[in-house]
Amino acid sequence: MNIVEIIGKKRDRKELTEEEIRFFVRGVCGEAIPDYQISALLMAICINGMSDGEISVLTDAMAKSGDTVDLSYIDGIKVDKHSSGGVGDKTTLAVAPMVAACGLPVAKMSGRGLGFSGGTIDKLESIKGFRTTLSEAEFTEFIRRDKIALMGQTKNVAPADKKLYALRDVTGTVPSLPLIAASIMSKKLACGSDAIVLDVKCGSGAFMKSLDDAVELAQKMTAIGENNGRRVFAVVTNMDQPLGNAVGNALEVKEAIDTLKGKGPSDFTELCYIIGSFMLVAGERAESLEKAREMLKDAVSSGKALQKFKKFIENQGGDPEITEHTELLPAAKVKKVLTSPRDGVITSIDGERIGAAAVGVKAGRLVKTDKIDFGSGFVLLAKIGDRVVKGQPIAEIYAPDEVLAAEAGEQLLKAYSFGENAEIKPMLLAYTNNHLICG
Ligand code: URA
Repeated sequence: MNIVEIIGKKRDRKELTEEEIRFFVRGVCGEAIPDYQISALLMAICINGMSDGEISVLTDAMAKSGDTVDLSYIDGIKVDKHSSGGVGDKTTLAVAPMVAACGLPVAKMSGRGLGFSGGTIDKLESIKGFRTTLSEAEFTEFIRRDKIALMGQTKNVAPADKKLYALRDVTGTVPSLPLIAASIMSKKLACGSDAIVLDVKCGSGAFMKSLDDAVELAQKMTAIGENNGRRVFAVVTNMDQPLGNAVGNALEVKEAIDTLKGKGPSDFTELCYIIGSFMLVAGERAESLEKAREMLKDAVSSGKALQKFKKFIENQGGDPEITEHTELLPAAKVKKVLTSPRDGVITSIDGERIGAAAVGVKAGRLVKTDKIDFGSGFVLLAKIGDRVVKGQPIAEIYAPDEVLAAEAGEQLLKAYSFGENAEIKPMLLAYTNNHLICG
C-alpha cells in the first residue's frame, strides 16, 4: 500500500477502503508517514469529506491506537457524557451527582482545560485536598459503594488523535466535521462506556456556530458510536452566551452546588435536566425522558443529589463542608463590579471574548504549564434578554490584582451588545433518536 495513492484517491473524491484507513493510522503512530503526507491527506479529507463508513473505521483505528479502558468490572450499563465545550460549562459537576443519586453509576474520566476556562479536573481541584488521581481499586470501590467517582486520564488514550490534532491545528484542517467527529469519538470509544450522551454546543460561544453544522456533527458522532456497538444520544444545545452565570473554577463549583440545592441559574439547571434525562434513559434507569426529568427533580428537591456530591468530595479527599460554607473555596484577591454603559436590553454576550478575558485573569491556561488562579473569573449578573439601566451592575470580576481586573473589565464590556429586543432561544435545539434528528 502506498500513501501517495491514498492521498490521490481522496483528492479525487474516492472512498478509502478499511485497509487504507488502518494503514494510514498505523503510519501516523509509527512515524512511518511523514507529517507533510499526513497533512496532505487531512486537507483532502477536509475538502472532500468522508462517508459514515470511512469515519467509523478511522475512529475505531484511532481509538485502538493506544490504551483502552475496561469498565466491565462495574455492574450495569456505564454511561459517559461529553460536551463539545464552552465557556462556563460546568455540567459534569452537577449532573454526575444528580444521575448517581438516581442510581446510575458514574465512572468518569475527565481532562484539564486549555484556553477559555479550566476543564472539569481543574474545577474540582479548586476544592482543597480533592484528589483526581485515584488507584483503580479506589475508583472501583467508590463506584460500587457510592455510584460516583471521577479521575484524570492516566492512560495513553488515542495517541493517533493527539498527533492528528496537533497537525490539524497548524494546517487549517480543524473545522472538518469528519475529523472532529472521529477525534471526539475515538477518545470516547477508548474510555470503555456502553452508552454515550453527547452535548454538541451550538452558537456564538461554541465550536459549531450554525445549527446545520451542529446537527451534522451530532448525526455523524451518533453513527460512529452505533457502528462501533455503542448506544449514543446526541443533543444540540444553545451556546449563544456563557452557560449559567459563573465563569472560573471555584466560582463554577459554587454555582454547581447552588444548582444541586435547586437554586442554580435557569439555563444551567435546564441543561443539567436535559443531559441527565438522556443519561438515565441511555442507562435504562428511566423509560422516558419525562420520567427521567421527574427523577432528577426529586433527587434535587429531596437533597439526595447534594448528599451524593458531598460523599463524592469526601471520598476523594476534599472537605464536604464547602457545600454549606462556600466561603471555604479559594477566593480571588480583588473583586470589582462592572456596570452597564447604557440603558437597553442585552442582545448578545460574546462567549469567546468572555473566555479570553477569563484566561486574562488566570482562570484558564494559554499553555499547558500556566498556573491557574482558582478564585478568579466572573459572575455575570445580567444575560441575554435582560433589560438594564446605565450604571447597573452587570458582572462581578474576580482577579489576582487590580491591573488584571481593570483589563478584564475592558474586555468584558466589549463582549456585551445592547439594543431593544433580544432573541431568546430554547436550550435544547435538536437531538438524535435512532438516526432521526428531532427538535
Ligand atoms: N474536540 C476534540 O476532541 N477534537 C476536535 O477535533 C474538536 C473538539
